[in-house]
Amino acid sequence: MTRRILVTSALPYANGHLHIGHLVEYLQTDIWVRFQKMRGERCIYVCADDTHGTSIMIRARQEGRSEQELIDDMSRAHQQDFAEFGIEFDNFGSTNSESNRKLCGEVWSALRQAGLVEERSVTQLFDAKEGVFLADRFVVGTCPKCESKEQYGDHCEKCLSTYSPMDLKDPVSTLSGTKPEVRSAPHLFVKIESLHSFLDEWTSTGDHLQPEMANYLKGHFLSDELRDWDISRPAPYFGFEIPDAPGNYWYVWFDAPIGYVASTQDWCDAQGEKLDDWWRSEDTEIFHFIGKDILYFHALFWPSMLKTAGFSLPRRVQVHGFLTVDGEKMSKSRGTFIMARTYLDHLDPAYLRYYYASRLGPKVVDIDLDLEDFQNKINSDLVGKVVNIASRSAKFVQRGHLSETYPDDGGLFQAGAEAGNEIAKAYDDCDYAKAMRLVMGLADRANGYVDEKKPWTLKKDPEKAGEVRDMCSVALNLYRQIVVYLTPVLPELSNDSANLLGASFDAWQDAGTPLVGTAVNEFKHLMKRVDPKKVQAILENSKTAAEDVADHQAVGKPTEDDGGPLEAEPLAAECTIDDFTKVDLRVARVVSAEHVPKANKLLQLRVSLGGGVERTVFAGIKKAYEPEALVGRLVVVVANLRAREMKFGTSEGMVTAAGPGGAEVFLLSPDSGAKPGQRVH
Ligand code: MSP
Ligand code: ZN
Repeated sequence: MTRRILVTSALPYANGHLHIGHLVEYLQTDIWVRFQKMRGERCIYVCADDTHGTSIMIRARQEGRSEQELIDDMSRAHQQDFAEFGIEFDNFGSTNSESNRKLCGEVWSALRQAGLVEERSVTQLFDAKEGVFLADRFVVGTCPKCESKEQYGDHCEKCLSTYSPMDLKDPVSTLSGTKPEVRSAPHLFVKIESLHSFLDEWTSTGDHLQPEMANYLKGHFLSDELRDWDISRPAPYFGFEIPDAPGNYWYVWFDAPIGYVASTQDWCDAQGEKLDDWWRSEDTEIFHFIGKDILYFHALFWPSMLKTAGFSLPRRVQVHGFLTVDGEKMSKSRGTFIMARTYLDHLDPAYLRYYYASRLGPKVVDIDLDLEDFQNKINSDLVGKVVNIASRSAKFVQRGHLSETYPDDGGLFQAGAEAGNEIAKAYDDCDYAKAMRLVMGLADRANGYVDEKKPWTLKKDPEKAGEVRDMCSVALNLYRQIVVYLTPVLPELSNDSANLLGASFDAWQDAGTPLVGTAVNEFKHLMKRVDPKKVQAILENSKTAAEDVADHQAVGKPTEDDGGPLEAEPLAAECTIDDFTKVDLRVARVVSAEHVPKANKLLQLRVSLGGGVERTVFAGIKKAYEPEALVGRLVVVVANLRAREMKFGTSEGMVTAAGPGGAEVFLLSPDSGAKPGQRVH
């Protein structure tokens, strides 16, 4: 019987762009969903942006625009990144939707009716200038234990102690720089202790959680009385106002998981399906994929909400660990805090899909992106093993046909077909590392076959044409079998290979029957080796790109900027807006960047203004930037500057940068989302 499966990934926060840490989860989920679909199961994958909360409100304020504009932009950017990584949702919604508001209301009424909601007063720091209650990360001050300055509201990075923001000495709001007041406001709480025995049972039975997660919950939360859950926030807050408590809003973690249901609702509305078939039916299995940091919400609160509101409980909450890069936490200064966009600007997404797959197992362990190993693994497994089978055989039969009957291959194909069950089980168990190992084992054997038969030597003898065709038919069938097994991970390679062999690769059972007599198309390059320069360029670019993001995500501690630069170069004479608009500044993308022979300061850049319009500009940035690091990034150029003849060629514009010169030059770049050709006003 086909299974009916509803799959979700955690909803990414709309207050920042995606980075390669997030991608661990979305790729893990996408691979699982693609696998289920290939097996013929009825499976849908829904997600949404998580749009509510104080951070979004503050960021919108700082950017001088509405929350809606901010979250619309971010949703577009997220979806673009996802699509380019081949992550395919059946629906991608938003928690700020009418369907979500309605469902939140339903869950809320159920909690009220069950008598689980209680009102209590909460004392918090309040920024009177900005008019907001301050979450812990928006307060800094002196640690009450060790007296270290500039520590956040709830913990000290020096002595690692935790405390209440009320105990912080000399507290300052990072939003306004003013001293916060202490204020009380009524909050609503959910008494989840009432569901303690249900949670004991649900978390420890039925394979709902990985055993280490079940134990963790038991040891850290379930062994004690469960604390009431503070579920409301007083105005101002960006979210849904609570219908029966005006002036109060549901805390973002209340409406976020309900977003899973709302996104399904939107999908159902578009497809003419019934929500109850997916969220209130024993025939549907619900799978949530999440990171270990949000286990608590998904394994305690969420089941409590679902149960109270009469929705189905998840069949499983699958938890993954965190990403480290080169063995350490992602770091801005090392350039390893890599945004999804920065990766996409330089490397093939297939590499990362495969690398993560080869590292992801069923356990909750952190996974490391070791950049050296990444390059070796892609080059040796994908290029050296998998694609190599096709490139060493397709050439000899391209524009011809495979043999009419499948030749004797000593049992290789049959063995590969039998291995399919074990590989499928590994995928289903989220043990992709094992699945990849098994598939590479098959690739080794296929390569052994080609090494032994050497079609390229027989090729010279016209009488051996039939034999060559047989060998290549075997090799290409083994190749197809392997690529079918890799299709959940490498959908693009699968597509390209399907074009080469004019055959389907989308169903798991395609790996079970060899192709005979079909036409082989012209062989086109399937995958390139990783260019180490591109990896370097990502690291270089991430140093700047990540700082932009950090500036927006965490509202910084107040800083004291040094007055040197302004003294060194005092402000120019006043100008009018007309003077300014004479200078036409445009966003441009660097298409190529090269050293200029004999010039010690200049790089020659080719920049695109979109629509095929390109310019050559010479820029004095050689001491500050490696040319490879510039390719793909956005810059701001003076686009109407008169062309200038230089010793090395004509410069058709100017790239804008700050700094005194030499190695201290900083290119300007727009926030992500800007497009080449857009004017800077
Ligand atoms: N908005 C919440 C989830 C709400 S679900 C109802 C959230 N968003 S997030 O953008 O911070 O994270 C989204 C997912 O990405 C989470 O499951 C999180 O664990 C995962 N990851 C974020 N950074 C990660 C790494 N560095 N490594 C691996 N996964 C990471 O949490
Ligand atoms: Zn301290």
